[in-house]
Amino acid sequence: MANIIDGKARAKEIRIALKKRVLKQQELTGLLPCLAVVLVGDNPASASYVRGKEQMCGRVSIESRVYRLPEETTQQQLLDLVDELNADKGVDGILVQLPLPKHIDTLTIMDRIDYRKDVDGFHVVNAGKLMVGEKGFVPCTPRGIIDLIKLTGTEIAGKNAVVIGRSNIVGKPVAMLLMAENATVTVCHSKTQNLGDVVKNADIVVAAIGRPGTIKGDMIKDGAVVIDVGTTAVNGVLNGDVEFEEAAKHASYITPVPGGVGPMTIAMLLENTFEAFMEYRVK
Ligand code: GUN
Repeated sequence: MANIIDGKARAKEIRIALKKRVLKQQELTGLLPCLAVVLVGDNPASASYVRGKEQMCGRVSIESRVYRLPEETTQQQLLDLVDELNADKGVDGILVQLPLPKHIDTLTIMDRIDYRKDVDGFHVVNAGKLMVGEKGFVPCTPRGIIDLIKLTGTEIAGKNAVVIGRSNIVGKPVAMLLMAENATVTVCHSKTQNLGDVVKNADIVVAAIGRPGTIKGDMIKDGAVVIDVGTTAVNGVLNGDVEFEEAAKHASYITPVPGGVGPMTIAMLLENTFEAFMEYRVK
């Protein structure tokens, strides 16, 4: 049976270490980092994620400001708020919660955020920096995934890593990070043929497709490290993309859902916010 990767415990460890650094800076500078979170509309999952971000900021002494805007907010109104937050010297990080209502173009909004405050790492400048290997903000979930893989003690270099899903939020950036760690990376998606044959070759599996049970237990190679990014709510219960029980019989390490990748996303958001504060406010 696989070892369970405890993302909740790891995220807590990261927050405890971060809080010490935050308080140390407060002592030295009198300043605290500040994250602005913008939520448009009333998607219940998004509202719950935003509450989680607010709560975790509080736990590490990062200030948070939450802007809750109605569903009918126009793209121009949202751009105006982003401009205001960009200009606000007291704001280090800006996060616009996704998904946005259909009448708003996500990439237009992401690219309006000052890339120096883009703690989500979704701005085209940060995506480009990640691609060419320049220092920039790395998207939170992918950063958390790499941390969890390293936590298992697995050497990434030279391994076959298979990423299932090609989103800008997880699939593409995690593939870049795995490549930077010298893995041999394959990216699969909804049009991939013979998914099972591809996954069977993987020493590291990152499932980020958002369809419960897509990765069957018998697709997992013996000894593989399995990271399940799926969080699809079915009747109020969060479901991963991997058939956990069956996959755990083959994997050496596996993340649970919930309690695996999820808590790491917010921990990395806090880290990115502190980095923005140190880089552009404290210097
Ligand atoms: N929606 C789901 N994941 C994320 C994330 O990491 N950042 C933002 N802004 N929205 C999301």
